Parts: sequence; C-alpha cells; structure tokens
Amino acid sequence: MTDHNIQALLYATSAVLFIFSIRGLASPETAVNGNRLGILGMVIAIATTVWIITPNLETVTIALILSGLLLGGLVGGLVATRAPMTKMPQLVGAFNALGGGASLLVASAAFYAPSNFGLDLPNGNIASRSLIELCVSGFLGAVTVSGSGIAFAKLNGNMSGNPIVIPFRHFINLGILIGIIVLVGLLIRSGGQTEWVFWSIVALSLLLGVTLIIPIGGADMPVIISVLNSYSGWAATALGFTLGNLGLIITGTLVGSSGAILSYIMCRGMNRSFFSVVLGGFGGDVSEENIARDAQARPVKRGAADDAAFIMKNASKVIIVPGYGMAVAQAQHVLKEMTEKLKEAGVEVSFAIHPVAGRMPGHMNVLLAEAQVPYDEVFELEDINPEFAAADVAFVIGANDVTNPAAKTDTSSPIFGMPVLDVEKAGVVLFVKRSLGSGYAGIDNDLFFKDNTMMLLSDAKEMVENIVKAL
Ligand code: TAP
Repeated sequence: MTDHNIQALLYATSAVLFIFSIRGLASPETAVNGNRLGILGMVIAIATTVWIITPNLETVTIALILSGLLLGGLVGGLVATRAPMTKMPQLVGAFNALGGGASLLVASAAFYAPSNFGLDLPNGNIASRSLIELCVSGFLGAVTVSGSGIAFAKLNGNMSGNPIVIPFRHFINLGILIGIIVLVGLLIRSGGQTEWVFWSIVALSLLLGVTLIIPIGGADMPVIISVLNSYSGWAATALGFTLGNLGLIITGTLVGSSGAILSYIMCRGMNRSFFSVVLGGFGGDVSEENIARDAQARPVKRGAADDAAFIMKNASKVIIVPGYGMAVAQAQHVLKEMTEKLKEAGVEVSFAIHPVAGRMPGHMNVLLAEAQVPYDEVFELEDINPEFAAADVAFVIGANDVTNPAAKTDTSSPIFGMPVLDVEKAGVVLFVKRSLGSGYAGIDNDLFFKDNTMMLLSDAKEMVENIVKAL
C-alpha cells in the first residue's frame, strides 16, 4: 500500500471516529465516551496531516508547527478545564472564532503563496476554481470570526445582550453581500493578481459578521453560535477542496452539517423559523406594569417552603421541571438533595426536560448530570407529558415559557405552536421563581393565576434549601 493510501485510510478512520463521537454526544450517558472518540479521531487526523506535510518542509518549519500544536493544545486544555458550565455557550463561541480564523489565515496564505499550495498556473495566475474556493473559505471564515466575537461579547456581558438595531440593516447586509460577489468576480478576472480586491473581500466579510449578529438579542445567541459553528465547518470544507485535503473536507462537512442540524432542532424546539432568529427581534410586549396590574386584578396563591415541603411529602408522584432560573440560581445540587429526601419518604420523583429549557441545548441535562441525578429519573418532553395527569405535584423550578399553556391555546402568542410541558394537568403546580415576571419570550403565563397553582416566590436555591430544611 502506498503512503498516500495509508493516509487516506487514516483520515477515513478519524472521520468514522468523529461520527461515533457526535453520536455519543447525543446523550449525557454516552457523552464522555463520545468525547474520547472525538479526541482520538482528532489526534489521528492531526498526526496524518503532519505526516503528509512534513517531508517537504524545513526543520525550522516543522519545529514551528509542533510548537504551535503544543501551545494550542495546552491553552485549549487549560481553558476547557477551567471554564464553568454556565460559560459554555461563550466558550463554544470563542472556539468557533478560532476555527473560522484558522480557515481565513490559511486561505490568505494560499492566496499569497499559491505555488506552495500547488495552486499556481504556468502563467503565475491562480485557477478560477481555486480562487472561488479561497473566497468562500475567506468569506465564511471572516464572518465567523467577527460574528463569533460579537456573540461572545454579548453572552459574556462585555456588551449589552439587547438587540442593537441598525436602521435599514437588511438593505445594508444585502449591499455588502452584493459588493462581495462583485469583488469575487473582479478577483477571478485578474487571475488572482489584485491583492486589494482580496483584502476588500475579507474586510467586507468581517463587517458583515458584525452587522448580521449585532441586531440579535443575547437570548438567541445559542442558535447563532450553532449557526456560526456550521459556517466555520463549511469554511474548512472549501479550504479542504483547495488544498486537496480529504481530512479537512470530511471534518469540515461534519461540523457544517451537524451545526446546521442543531440550529434547525433549536429553532423547531422554540417553534421559530430559522429566518426569524437570524433576522433578530423576538418576544411579547408585556411590561412590568402589565404584570403588576395583572397581579392586582387576579388573585395569586402564594406559599412558603413549609407548605411546599408538606404538599410534596404527602404526594406519591412528583415531577420536577427545571428551567433557566435553576441554572441562574445554581440550584441543581440542593435540588438533588431535595429529591433524595422525598425518595426516602417514599415519593416517586422524576425530572421533565423540555428540549429548549435553559439557554443552550442540553443545558438542564448537563446541570442535572453535574448534580449526579440518575439518568433514569430524567425524561424528555414526549415521554413525560402523559405522566403529568397522574402526578400529584409538578414542581417547576426557574422554568416559565416551557410550561406556558398559551403555546397551545393562544394563536396570537409568539410561542404558539411551541411544544410545552403539560404541568397544569398535575394535581398541584408549585412554581419557584422570584416574581410574576415573564421568561425569555417576554409573555405572561396564565398558570400563575390558576386554582391549582401555588407560587413560591424566591430565589430558586434559597427556596429549595428551605424546603430541604422543612422536609
Ligand atoms: P424562561 O422562560 O426564560 O424562564 C426562566 C424563569 O426563571 C424566569 O421567568 C425567571 O423569573 C426565573 N428565574 C431567573 N432567575 C431565577 C432565580 N435566581 N431563582 C428563581 N427563578 C429565577 O426559561 P425556560 O422555561 O427554561 O425556557 C427557556 C426559554 O429560552 C424558551 O423561551 C426558549 O425558547 C428560550 N431559548 C432556549 C434556548 C435553548 S437551546 N435552550 C436557546 C435560545 C432561547 P423571575 O425573574 O420571576 O425569577
């Protein structure tokens, strides 16, 4: 077998490992092994790439590449082990920027020294096909870099998470896009000999990343991060074609398509079209005054930790519905303690997870796994929904939109059509949150005013700590 064949085989092996890795990541039970397979696949892919390129390189260049690998690996390892779970969305955003940035840099290097990449024609020009691939890669890479930078800043609190609406932004974006297409045409006509055109394409793409992402609200960022993740994958795929690198083509396509599928799943879970997320602006117009007026006009049953402890201890089946507020309060550990106490008292306890509860895919699963809640007590929406009618208590902790019945009944509601957890079918609904305020969608929740609802108005961690004491 030739070296070339062995290298292709190694890339294929890493691709298979990546596919099994993604499959493993689909469930918290198999995620650790999935991660290990991904690491193994990446080690094989990197080693193969080093093997392919080193025979033609000087020792200094090889040393540079190896030190880059070592330094990057070290920084990546440190950052990943130190970042808290709540900062995962912005960490993924930052890594996306690195992926897009790498594609942009390699595309620029190939444009500058086409002969080193085997892209030059006998007359010194670059072939049109290669120029298109370089432009696609540079464009997507640059959009990913600046877009991910904004997404990171919004999620990390370095800039306001509110949508910053630029007047005529759709026209501006369209104008920039048309400008880029015209410039690509010019670059191809010059056979790749016009440097300023290439850099103008990069500059406009960086600008487009900003103008596209800045009007999108912080809460929509997880979808956007997944979209940008997909872009960074496609940028690598385009580059893979230019460089004739099978590993890059396969890996880029896996990242591109899985990112796109994840974005689609998140949009479907929120019952929002992909375009409404990308074009920005979402939510109802319920103001604090409306909520206060509602609270005065409609009676609300309020309770304390003692009441909640009494009701749950005397129940035979309790379903816990965690949401974003549990993550904010970091209440998962004490919640686990509460479930232990209830189980000791003979109560059957299970957890209901809505696909978009929290602010990122799998947010609740990760937090519950961190608190060592057994996987067999955690159920997805379709599996647990029929169980609410048989439950004595639905204990909703820091969740709001994902329980809102307006999604089923009010056709004018922004969340109409979003699948929700049928908590109102339980005997009693206990709602732990700090106020009667709205959730992410900014809309009122009628459940707060129902006869069988008791509001436990408090910080989630504090309330559950008190319930544990009372139990
Ligand atoms: P939300 O509807 O946003 O409700 C969370 C509730 O938690 C709020 O109403 C808030 O009420 C309460 N809260 C905040 N801090 C708290 C604390 N320290 N203690 C107790 N309660 C606290 O959350 P959800 O039910 O999880 O729904 C998720 C929403 O996010 C959906 O609308 C979904 O479409 C959207 N979204 C999700 C994702 C993904 S992938 N998960 C991505 C983008 C958007 P108070 O202020 O009264 O306490």
